[in-house]
Amino acid sequence: MSISDDKWLWWKDGVIYQIYPRSFYDSNGDGIGDIRGIIEKIDYLEYLGIDAVWLSPINRSPMDDFGYDIKDYRRIESIFGTEADFDELIKKFHERNIKIIFDLVMNHTSSSHLWFVESRSSKTNPKRDWYIWQKCRRGKYPNNWRAAFGGRAWEYDKITGEYYLHSFLKQQPDINWRNNELRDAVFDDIKFWLDRGIDGFRLDVVNWFIKDEKLRNNPYTIGYSPRIYDMQSHIYDRNRPETHDVLKDFRKLLDNYTERMSVGEVFSPPPGNPRLSAEFLGNGKDQLDMAFDFSLMYTKWNAKEFYKKISNWLELIPSDGWPCHVLSNHDQSRQASRFYKKNYTDERCRILAVLLLTLKGTPFVYYGEEIGMRDGKISRSKLRDPLGKKYWPFFKGRDPERTPMQWENSDNAGFTSGVPWLPVNSDYWKRNVHKQIEDKNSILNLYRFLILLRRKEYNLRRGSIVFVETGEAGILSYMRGCEFEIALNFDNRIKQYFPQGHGAEIVYSTEKFSKVTELKILQPYEAVILRHNQQRNS
Ligand code: NOJ
Repeated sequence: MSISDDKWLWWKDGVIYQIYPRSFYDSNGDGIGDIRGIIEKIDYLEYLGIDAVWLSPINRSPMDDFGYDIKDYRRIESIFGTEADFDELIKKFHERNIKIIFDLVMNHTSSSHLWFVESRSSKTNPKRDWYIWQKCRRGKYPNNWRAAFGGRAWEYDKITGEYYLHSFLKQQPDINWRNNELRDAVFDDIKFWLDRGIDGFRLDVVNWFIKDEKLRNNPYTIGYSPRIYDMQSHIYDRNRPETHDVLKDFRKLLDNYTERMSVGEVFSPPPGNPRLSAEFLGNGKDQLDMAFDFSLMYTKWNAKEFYKKISNWLELIPSDGWPCHVLSNHDQSRQASRFYKKNYTDERCRILAVLLLTLKGTPFVYYGEEIGMRDGKISRSKLRDPLGKKYWPFFKGRDPERTPMQWENSDNAGFTSGVPWLPVNSDYWKRNVHKQIEDKNSILNLYRFLILLRRKEYNLRRGSIVFVETGEAGILSYMRGCEFEIALNFDNRIKQYFPQGHGAEIVYSTEKFSKVTELKILQPYEAVILRHNQQRNS
């Protein structure tokens, strides 16, 4: 390993925290979280110890998909604040050494984006080909593609009597990445944000960018599902090989700047597709810096399953590439709810915290995860997510994982002085940041401890990972750089566990009453970090 590879690099060594801005902190009482709210909570972010914040979209948007439908890539949405607010956020975050990652939603724009307004205005408009238009007789669709958010992926537009493609809502027309002028325009927008000081990008549905040139029908290969979309194999509307060429160009652009980073949302349905995610890393240096693998989000609570998914993901990373890990985000039920177990959910959250922050690869923490937030219960009348509205009650949408951050035991959990855009979870009085800061055994203080430990310990960040227990007995354990041994008991029963070698020191155990110096057993749901008396070793 060369010296330069070895030095601290924020996106490899740090911890990245995802903020869903609508739900983080509302500074002006309109019920919606905003940029000033994030600035006001900067002390909290510093206290938590994270190194970078990924903001879900804050660009100008009609909010049909709550910001994932952008109308102007260069402007800040006024619900979230002003341009000056955003510049202040960059400045203040950078002063504290916290990096900022933008959500790059570039598979589609909003239908109110000027590009689309022009494109739809006439068949001869210079921007016509910036979107994917098809002529057809009305009622006969160009092909059998479906929108992920329901219905056909083609919308008839009466202005010119043609159909346009939308992989999500009809208010989210897909852009045509095969058009070079469009590509240049997108890259100009990206440069705009790089020049303004953005440190990195999370690329929304990056594996959908390019569509089959011939627009061939997807085959139906999967049995019945309430959503027809899920019955097709998406071989022609996703994962097209040409997407990698786009990413190579994108990477070249990013490499003109210092220490900027990219992470891709490579979407695939359960059980996940780590091989596909890894493809977006190219040779490890020529495409994305990191890509999400959602396998762990789709996994049952089972040590063996965790082992299989994690080891598989790590093996697929190219030797010059770098992994990342994520357990929750704004599209999936929160980990505390997915892995809910009566009387033991917090214990499971602790195991997940120790796992996430001791694995090899960059940890992504979703706001609220650090206090063990659960999904909210949202009634039909309070639903906001278009996906929930469409598929209720078969699928209740993504509002449950987007409820307001629980700051304290006061009205609306201290999130807003107004009416929150989504109801605050009813458990806020007992589960909130304020309470957990004061409780030294809280989940929040565990995250904090682990983040600091990771920062201090080279081997927890960069050390090799070698699995010891692979889940057979309900235990997952692994060595990090021959120095740290992490053992996680996924079971509700006491287990025998003999660490590697002798005399390992217990750096941390979730068993606060455990006074043992020499570990021989693991208590139910115990997570332990041991240190072996070894020199730093990568
Ligand atoms: C993935 C995003 O994470 C999700 O929230 C959004 O609805 C779709 N992409 C469409 O942009």
